[in-house]
Amino acid sequence: MSILIKNGRIITAADDYQADIFIEGETISAIGKNLNVQADQIIDASGKLVIPGGIDPHVHLEMPFMGTYSSDNYETGTRAALFGGTTTVIDFILQTQGKSLQSALDEWKGRSTNNAVGDYSFHMAVTDFNENTRKEIQHIVEVEGITSFKTFMAYKGALMINDSQMVGLMEEVKKHGGLINVHATNGDMIDYLIAKHKAEGKLEPLYHYLSQPEVTEAEASGRFADMANYTGCPGYIVHLTCEGALNAVRNATKRNQNVFVETCIQYLVLDASLYEQNFEGAKWVMSPPLREKKDQETLWAGLNQGTVKVVATDHCPFMWEQKLMGKDDFSKIPNGHPAIENRMELLFSEGVNKGKITLNKYVEVACTNAAKIFGMFPKKGTIAIGSDADIVLLDPNEKHIVSAKTHHMNVDYSGYEGWELTGKVKTVLLRGKVVIDNNECKVSKGYGQFIKRKKVQGKI
Ligand code: URP
Ligand code: ZN
Ligand code: ZN
Ligand code: ZN
Repeated sequence: MSILIKNGRIITAADDYQADIFIEGETISAIGKNLNVQADQIIDASGKLVIPGGIDPHVHLEMPFMGTYSSDNYETGTRAALFGGTTTVIDFILQTQGKSLQSALDEWKGRSTNNAVGDYSFHMAVTDFNENTRKEIQHIVEVEGITSFKTFMAYKGALMINDSQMVGLMEEVKKHGGLINVHATNGDMIDYLIAKHKAEGKLEPLYHYLSQPEVTEAEASGRFADMANYTGCPGYIVHLTCEGALNAVRNATKRNQNVFVETCIQYLVLDASLYEQNFEGAKWVMSPPLREKKDQETLWAGLNQGTVKVVATDHCPFMWEQKLMGKDDFSKIPNGHPAIENRMELLFSEGVNKGKITLNKYVEVACTNAAKIFGMFPKKGTIAIGSDADIVLLDPNEKHIVSAKTHHMNVDYSGYEGWELTGKVKTVLLRGKVVIDNNECKVSKGYGQFIKRKKVQGKI
C-alpha cells in the first residue's frame, strides 16, 4: 500500500515548506516538490498543515488509583488520542509495593496487548526500590525496551519513595542508559496540610488546591535536580506547573545540568479560580493542582526559552460518578482530568493562534522533543525519510466547539466544555495507514503497537 500526500505545508520542529510526501508501507520513502510517483491513494492536503503525529508521554489508561480505575482503557484512550492528532502515548506501569516490576509489567501487558488503537509505550513506576528491584532494571531496559523509570515524591503509603531509594534507583538506572521521571512534590508537607484542613472541617475541592502550595513543588523539584546532578542520572520532571518549580530547575541548569521539564496543557490554559465553586471544582482536582495566571505566563515563557521541553496531558479521566467518591472529603476525589483528545488542538488554538508560540515550537513540544527524550526519534516525532508515516493534517482555520457530547474519551464531562477552538485535526495517519478521516476512526483495537524504546541520551 502506498499513499501520496500532495500540496501540504509541512511543519517540523525545524522546517516549514511546501512539498509532497510519499509513503510506502509503514514509513515515509520520499519527500519532494511535485513527486512523480504512482500511489495507491492520493490525499490532497491543500490548505492544511502537515505535521508529525503528536506524542503524549504522560497518560494513565485503565490505571488502578485511589480505589478505582481511570475510565479510559487502551482502546478508548488511544482512539480518542488519534481523533485529537496524537498517534503515540506513553502510559505508566505502577509497581505494587512489595511486588516485582515484572509482575506489574505483566499486569499492564494483560490490559494493553491487542487492545490499543494507537501506538503506545510504557514508563515503569518504581514505588518500592530495594535489592530485588535493582536486579530487574537492566532487563526492563534492555529486553523490554522500557527506558524511563517513574518516581513519586508524593502519595505516601502508595507510590512515594524516599530520597535514599531515589538516589539508589538513579545510580542503577544511569548505569543501564535510562532516565528517571519524577512527580516532584513534597509528599510529607502535602499530607500534613491535607490532615490539617480536614481537622478544620475544610473539605471542599478548594482545599485540595490549598494543600499543595507552590512551595511543595518548588522544593521537591530542586531536591530532585540536586539528586540527579549528584548521581549524573538524566532526569525529567513531569507535569511542572509553576514559577517556583521552574526557577528551581533554571537554577540547577546554570551548572550545565540537563533536567527535562514537561508541563501539561491544562496548566497553560486553566487557572485555580476554577476551584472557587462548590463540588464542580472536582473536575479539575489533579496533582499538582491548577495554579495562578502568573504561572501560565511562566510556562509559556519556559516553552519559548527552551526550559520547558514537552506539553503532555497527564490524562487520567474519571467519570463524574467516580469524582463523587470525594463529595464529602476532597482527599477522596480521584486525582486527574481528561485531555488526551484535546491537547493538540488546544495547544494550537491557545498557543499558535494566539501568538504565544510559533508553529515550529508547537511541533517541537507536542511531537518531537518527547520522541527525542524517550528514545523514539527519528522513528517517531518528525516527518523525514525513513520515519514512521505518523502524520496529521490540520486545518488551521476550522472552528469547532469542545464538548463531552462529541468527544471520544470515555468520560462524561469535559474540563473545556463549550470552548471554541480554531484549528481542527482532519486526517491522521499512523504507520502509513489512514486511521482518522472526516471524524471517523478507520481502524480497530489491535492496530496500535507497543513501541520498544532505545536507551536515552540525557541530552537532545
Ligand atoms: O492528578 C493526577 N496527576 N493524577 C494522575 C497521577 C499523577 O500524579 O500523575
Ligand atoms: Zn521480561
Ligand atoms: Zn503525578
Ligand atoms: Zn500522571
